[in-house]
Amino acid sequence: MIRPILRYGADALHSTAKPVDDFGTELQTLIDDMIETMYAAPGVGLAAPQVGIALRLFVADPSSGRSTSDVCVLANPEIVEQEGTQSEEEGCLSLPGFTARVARPSRVVLKGLGRDGTPIQLEGEGLEARVFQHELDHLDGSLFVNRLQGIRRDQIVRRVHKLQRTGKW
Ligand code: NI
Repeated sequence: MIRPILRYGADALHSTAKPVDDFGTELQTLIDDMIETMYAAPGVGLAAPQVGIALRLFVADPSSGRSTSDVCVLANPEIVEQEGTQSEEEGCLSLPGFTARVARPSRVVLKGLGRDGTPIQLEGEGLEARVFQHELDHLDGSLFVNRLQGIRRDQIVRRVHKLQRTGKW
C-alpha cells in the first residue's frame, strides 16, 4: 500500500526516531509499503519518519528500480566508516520542488539490521553513499536543508513557509 509522504514541517520529520526492536508482521508490512511508496514517488530512498512512523528504518534503491533486487532495507543504521568528500545536488520527497548542493563523505560503510533482524553491513560510494547518509539524517530529524548554510537554506525555508501560509504545501 502506498502511504502518504509527509512534508517539511510535519512533526515526525523533525524528531529523533526510536530503534526498531520488533521485526514482526507489522514491520514487514511497513517495509513493503515503504518500498512501494518509494518506487511510486519515484524516489531513491525513503525513511520511516517520512511516512509518519518514528522508527530507525530506511529503504533505498539508488538504481531507481532498474533492478528491484538492488533495494536495501536497513534498521538501526550506524556509520562505521567514512571517507572522502562529494558535493552534489540533492532533493527530498519531503521537500518537493527544492534541490541544493550538499557536501557529504563520498564513501560510507553502515552497519545495522536487515528486514529479518539479522546484522548486515552496507557499503556505498557516490550516489549510493549520499542516499544512505540522507536517509540516516531523516532518522535524526534532519533534512538536507539543515546541512546547508546561509542564504540557500534561508531561501528554501522562506519559500516553504510562504507555500504553507497560502495552503499550497
Ligand atoms: Ni529525504
